[in-house]
Amino acid sequence: MIGKATGHTCVVGLGWGDEGKGKIVDLLCGGYDAVVRFNGGANAGHTVWIDGKKFAVHLLPSGVLHSEKLSLIGPGVVVDPTSLLGEIDALASQGVTVGSNLKISDRAHVVMPYHKVEDRLSEAAAGGDKIGTTSRGIGPCYADKVRRSWGIRIGDLLDAGRLGERVEQIVAAKKAMFAAIYGDDGGLDATAVMAEMTGAAERLMPFVADTTALLHERVDAGAVVLFEGANGSLLDVDHGTYPFVTSSNTTANGIGNGSGLPARSVEHVIGVCKAYTTRVGGGPFMTELTDAMGDRIREAGNEYGTTTGRPRRCGWFDAVATRYSVRIGGVTEVAMMHLDTLSGFEEVGVCTAYSIGGRETTSLPSRVEDLERVEPVIEYVPGWDEDVSGVERRDDLPAAARAYLDRVESLIGAPITIVSVGPDRMQTMVSGTSGAVGGGLTAAGRA
Ligand code: IMP
Repeated sequence: MIGKATGHTCVVGLGWGDEGKGKIVDLLCGGYDAVVRFNGGANAGHTVWIDGKKFAVHLLPSGVLHSEKLSLIGPGVVVDPTSLLGEIDALASQGVTVGSNLKISDRAHVVMPYHKVEDRLSEAAAGGDKIGTTSRGIGPCYADKVRRSWGIRIGDLLDAGRLGERVEQIVAAKKAMFAAIYGDDGGLDATAVMAEMTGAAERLMPFVADTTALLHERVDAGAVVLFEGANGSLLDVDHGTYPFVTSSNTTANGIGNGSGLPARSVEHVIGVCKAYTTRVGGGPFMTELTDAMGDRIREAGNEYGTTTGRPRRCGWFDAVATRYSVRIGGVTEVAMMHLDTLSGFEEVGVCTAYSIGGRETTSLPSRVEDLERVEPVIEYVPGWDEDVSGVERRDDLPAAARAYLDRVESLIGAPITIVSVGPDRMQTMVSGTSGAVGGGLTAAGRA
């Protein structure tokens, strides 16, 4: 268990998502009073193992697995009511009740059924340039939010009369737009959209609140908050590998806008990465291994998507991109996941620089064309044979694994204070230097 945390903390992914943030949030949860989602939507997929039981959440904060914690979905999140209710029902069938512990911001935008249709049509039309989205309607929903005239917020679901009028207009406009652009109006029907929304709204009603006011109230009363970042820093719409990104701000900088609590309130930012790199969907992947070594990492790490089941692309650890994520996100400490996956590899690669057209750099280029022609400069360090999945202290790791961690730390410019060697909570080493965990870890090891 973790003791009471000393300050508001954010957990974010340092890569393109799927770093294992769910496990870290779950591990830390005990020390916080509230868990807040501030970005993204059901495109995220957080897997948490508790007592050998697997729980998967997408839109819900991982905090809902702890009924005594307040779980908030902030204004910066995009909410698909149908998928949210499906998640709540799935958890109920596993014995987890989501009730008054969950509050959803009335300012959050709604992922409407036509956003999912738009996501599918636009990806199908993009051919080879497709982003490889999760098909959850995320991009079209955020686009409508920024466009303003077509945005629908959770609070709008509470006024069925006004909503019906707007849905009528928006669906007509979307059908015309889809037909003109894609030659397919998506089969949209305003009555069906309204039927789905009014049914969902009724069930969602008890969860809807002004989460901004609630968050401030709780914080003023002394609550310590854990912010749960979705997706990953390299998918950030402003700082990521654009246009192969998601449509929200995925770093801790997104907290201010996405939750209503100023980002400067956050004391600790834990960046989560794997001991290697993965990516799902399209886009540049500078250290990708398209050979047998990539397959070996995928099988060893069971790298298949939580949200879509897609096989993940795999490659060596990218210290250039990770250092970039550490810097832009104000990361104060790093959790490295899946160290156990690399056991048995004769040597382990780390990308220390990019070579682009014969020039070396340790900065992340902004243009996708440059990212795509990166030749990674890989340093190979000796691997280790030992199974490390039961190791409880960093000092007890094989020397080669310790040397690997030391090398990565010096390249990325942040301390690795948490090392995960398996899916279970207990398979986690937390260093005494962790500011976020403070002094309270007793059930798992300490290094
Ligand atoms: P979207 O967020 O569904 O629009 O997808 C945009 C890109 O981000 C695609 O490459 C997705 O695979 C990727 N993506 C979005 N969320 C996640 C995530 O939580 N994990 C991994 N990839 C993600």
